[in-house]
Amino acid sequence: MNYLSPSLLAADFAKLGEQVQLIEQAGAHYAHIDVMDGMFVPSISFGLPVIASIRKVSKIPFDVHLMIEEPDRYIKEFADAGADIITVHAEACKHLDRTIQHIHECGLKAGVALNPSTPLEVLRYVLEDLDLVLVMSVNPGFGGQKYIPYSTKKIKELRKMCDEVNPDIMLEVDGGIKTTNVLEVIGAGANMIVAGSAVFKDDVTKNVTEFLKLMNQ
Ligand code: DX5
Ligand code: ZN
Repeated sequence: MNYLSPSLLAADFAKLGEQVQLIEQAGAHYAHIDVMDGMFVPSISFGLPVIASIRKVSKIPFDVHLMIEEPDRYIKEFADAGADIITVHAEACKHLDRTIQHIHECGLKAGVALNPSTPLEVLRYVLEDLDLVLVMSVNPGFGGQKYIPYSTKKIKELRKMCDEVNPDIMLEVDGGIKTTNVLEVIGAGANMIVAGSAVFKDDVTKNVTEFLKLMNQ
């Protein structure tokens, strides 16, 4: 089974609640929520109050991707706002192991994300404690960028590492994924796909349906 997590960063913020309901009704498995602080990445997106608001109008699990420095400061708040999975960047945590424990103590699934240039080695000892690993296939900060080709090799290597120590882990890939390259990403070993601009353009329902069909044929 392969899971789809459309990124709300590409949604129409003027009707965010409706857009979450739309992907939920179309059968998406998660809503990917990109939080940016203007420090870890150049952009600022949205934060806790927005997540708490949309939590009230949908039951879809929230896959929260924190692109913020020292996310440990806010784990409890994101849990209270309605996150189901919290993913932090290895590059943004001084004490990654402690942050992972903190997410678990809040009763949530814990993920670690890696920027394109970050080696897989940083995951070696924490991999067995994780529910999810996220390979960034663009440099984080913006939607609508091009998939970095070497990501495919990285996903394959990570799939091998996961199969050895934690075969049930979610291997999520984020950035530049379209219907034209999603099969390459899944073929390399990913089982959770983020797509922003490819889902939230034109007919959202049709786009979700098309992704789901391709991903689980
Ligand atoms: C980038 C974000 C991604 C992004 C994906 O910093 O983490 O989730 O919104 O958007 P697309 O699919 O348009 O690359
Ligand atoms: Zn993301």
